[in-house]
Amino acid sequence: MSKASVEHRLKRRPLGLILVILAWSLAMGWLLASVTSAHSATPTAEIGTVDVVPAQYQLGQELYLENCSTCHIALPPAVLPTQTWKNLLEDSQHYGAQLKPLVDPPRILVWRYLSTFSRTQLSDEATPYRVNNSRYFKALHPKVELPRPVQIGSCVSCHPNASEYNFRRLSPEWEK
Ligand code: HEC
Ligand code: HEC
Repeated sequence: MSKASVEHRLKRRPLGLILVILAWSLAMGWLLASVTSAHSATPTAEIGTVDVVPAQYQLGQELYLENCSTCHIALPPAVLPTQTWKNLLEDSQHYGAQLKPLVDPPRILVWRYLSTFSRTQLSDEATPYRVNNSRYFKALHPKVELPRPVQIGSCVSCHPNASEYNFRRLSPEWEK
């Protein structure tokens, strides 16, 4: 290689680097835009969750649904204390099933979502692993005659849209 062509290559380096950075930022911009537009695409959708989920938690909610509603419906965070969710995310042994543990960054986003929309457990209480034993679940069902024990498969009998993560809509016999 002649001296001139080496110099030429060295001079071109910064331009190459700038192009790589430019391509990267364009790709990230596109990625972010597609993530945000996926949410803003349904602005009039019915709110089916206990709390309205602000934008900064929506990706966490989406990742939660993606990872935790393949074997059963996703439970809303409000039905169990924060400690339960923490332990569930840390444990790959899951009610006799084996879970692939979440890794960061999804894990931290799911955790932020679950911990924000659940409450801490009271100190005198053992950590419940079943909604049937959860006082927060009971608190959301005042005066409701629940099956005993109430299980994850029975939500849909009163919440017909439970599989779409809508626990607001009730079956006709419960509508006031
Ligand atoms: C590989 C399948 C599978 C995946 C994925 C899965 N679960 Fe489960 N989950 C189960 C099984 C099986 C049960 C026990 C069902 C039963 O006995 O009624 C269960 C039960 C539960 C219960 C207890 C419900 C109750 O009150 O009886 C909770 C809470 C729960 N899962 C949360 C999660 C969370 C959070 C995730 C995501 C990190 C998740 N699950 C992902 C299989 C799975
Ligand atoms: C026997 C019927 C019945 C069953 C079974 C049932 N629910 Fe409900 N649920 C209700 C009724 C009725 C309400 C409304 C209570 C009220 O507003 O006083 C309700 C309210 C809720 C709410 C609060 C909704 C809101 O935003 O106001 C959540 C969350 C919820 N249920 C989750 C669940 C889950 C999860 C399961 C299954 C583990 C379940 N429910 C099983 C009847 C039921």
